[in-house]
Amino acid sequence: MNHKPQLILALDVNTHKQAMRWVNLLYPKVRIFKVGLQLYTACGPQIIKDIRKTGAQVFLDLKFNDIPNTMACAAAEAVKLGAAMFTVHTLSGPTALKEVARVCRKSRTKVIGVTILTSICPHFLKDLGVKRALSREVLYLGAMAKRNGLDGLVCSVQEARMIREYLGKNFLIITPGIRPQGYKQDDQSRIATAGQAVACGADFIVVGRPILEAPNPLLVVKELNCQGK
Ligand code: C5P
Repeated sequence: MNHKPQLILALDVNTHKQAMRWVNLLYPKVRIFKVGLQLYTACGPQIIKDIRKTGAQVFLDLKFNDIPNTMACAAAEAVKLGAAMFTVHTLSGPTALKEVARVCRKSRTKVIGVTILTSICPHFLKDLGVKRALSREVLYLGAMAKRNGLDGLVCSVQEARMIREYLGKNFLIITPGIRPQGYKQDDQSRIATAGQAVACGADFIVVGRPILEAPNPLLVVKELNCQGK
């Protein structure tokens, strides 16, 4: 039987007021809210504190990608803010990943690796001179992330099954690029439905525009929460 992945709302808005309106509307039907580049750049760390005050959890998705010392110092700040999890680019390399994992080891904060963004098409990797196929590249970076102490990976649903198979059960899988049947693709290139994410063993699904732009967001959340039951 498939387990039920937890829904994460991508709070891709640019004001504190809008963000808190979504949290107040959807918590506890949605328990984890993703603060990404747009919202964090607009509002700073206060938004994380205010979301947490409601009882909800924060997924800090700033996709750190820097030298090991800078990554480790930023990771320490994410832990201090009480983020439930945060993202780092696996392309920052094994030393940086190991340092970040070390900083977070004694906390409850999970470190999640980003491999190849779900908006990237295979031919772009080819243009860059990457010889491995996109899925192989994701697996290579994922294995490197696990070896260096990361707790899980963000990947498309298409890659989730392979990640689960090769990297085992005790590795979190977070899948964005989720689109209800018939919904527009937007800028995502590797999309799937929530049902497909369930079938591939994802632990979390990240959904933004299909909820944020819905005429009835509560209904979309209800449908997404029903997947995997
Ligand atoms: O609106 P949509 O559902 O496409 O939002 C997906 C969210 O997941 C965005 O906030 C995006 O930054 C994030 N994300 C992604 N692909 C990744 C990592 C994160 O789409 N590989």
